[in-house]
Amino acid sequence: MSAIEIENLTKDYTVGFARKRRVRALDGVSLTVEPGEIFGFLGANGAGKTTAIKILMRLIAPTAGTARICGRPIDDVAMHARIGFLPEQPYFYDYLTARELLEYFAELFGHARARRRPRAAELLARVHLEEAAWDQQLRRLSKGMLQRVGLAQALVNDPEVIVLDEPMSGLDPIGRREVRDLIASLRAQGTTVFFSSHILADIEVLCDRVGILQRGRLAHLGRLGDLQRVDAGGRLEITVTGVRPDEIGTTLQTLDGARVTATPGGARVEVASERDVDQALRAIRRCGGRLVSVQPVRQSLEDLFVREGAAPDGAG
Ligand SMILES: Nc1ncnc2c1ncn2[C@@H]1O[C@H](COP(=O)(O)OP(=O)(O)OP(=O)(O)O)[C@@H](O)[C@H]1O
Ligand SMILES: [Mg+2]
Repeated sequence: MSAIEIENLTKDYTVGFARKRRVRALDGVSLTVEPGEIFGFLGANGAGKTTAIKILMRLIAPTAGTARICGRPIDDVAMHARIGFLPEQPYFYDYLTARELLEYFAELFGHARARRRPRAAELLARVHLEEAAWDQQLRRLSKGMLQRVGLAQALVNDPEVIVLDEPMSGLDPIGRREVRDLIASLRAQGTTVFFSSHILADIEVLCDRVGILQRGRLAHLGRLGDLQRVDAGGRLEITVTGVRPDEIGTTLQTLDGARVTATPGGARVEVASERDVDQALRAIRRCGGRLVSVQPVRQSLEDLFVREGAAPDGAG
């Protein structure tokens, strides 16, 4: 059984007042997330990430399509007690303190009175909210602090599946790393994590698989490494020191598809395939260069993003 199954999910919003028209925010999206996976849901602003997540959390109804979480249809209320959710813009009753809010959620999830206070403290510590802020009213907390409270709230019931809409948003670099570590620790305990983001660096270090949404459609789905390798077409990159790029360039003129670029300490040689590596290395040694590394050229996520974003509105 998959942790999340999304099938042909489609959402039209009605916009305009006098002259109503429909805008398709999500267009036939299908994907599954396996138990224990960290799945990154990517897309530019307005691509439809939040729309899909709101449907999963049954905050809005889909125009077409279905989804299941933990094998249960999304309108199954009992299933929602087993999952956690961080909204894009968490809105809490902000005269409560962080501690009170979490005790309240602990109560909602049926924790006995004596368990609520330690549970709240445990969660606030886990999301690294500084203790001085625990008894502050939420309206006095900074955006990043509120984000942490939101994360703590999503963890109250030890969810099997956790859905996070932009969990790193509003966090400083240290905060982002802490949330990254937190998500990694969730994986270690077997929780399935589905999170949206457009912070590519976070996605690259965390996710088992990603789906890239583009204008409501799923443009890519798969393991990050696979997506990036396919795109780079099997090219390899050789990094060397101790040579001038123009020297190697001349020696490698006969090698089809080789490209040489300068780096601070030497050069970077890109060759078309593994077959060309030996010849390139011999040429580099003849010039007195020293090998630093040979690795597949990986299209960065940013490249995928930019290319997708720049692509004409295809099959529309
Ligand atoms: N309530 C709504 N009514 C009308 N249109 C909406 C509504 N909510 C979202 N949209 C539109 O649907 C599209 C997808 O929006 P959505 O919020 O799902 O994107 P997103 O990928 O979460 O973007 P971001 O990265 O900015 O959070 C956008 O074009 C947006 O304008
Ligand atoms: Mg969003």
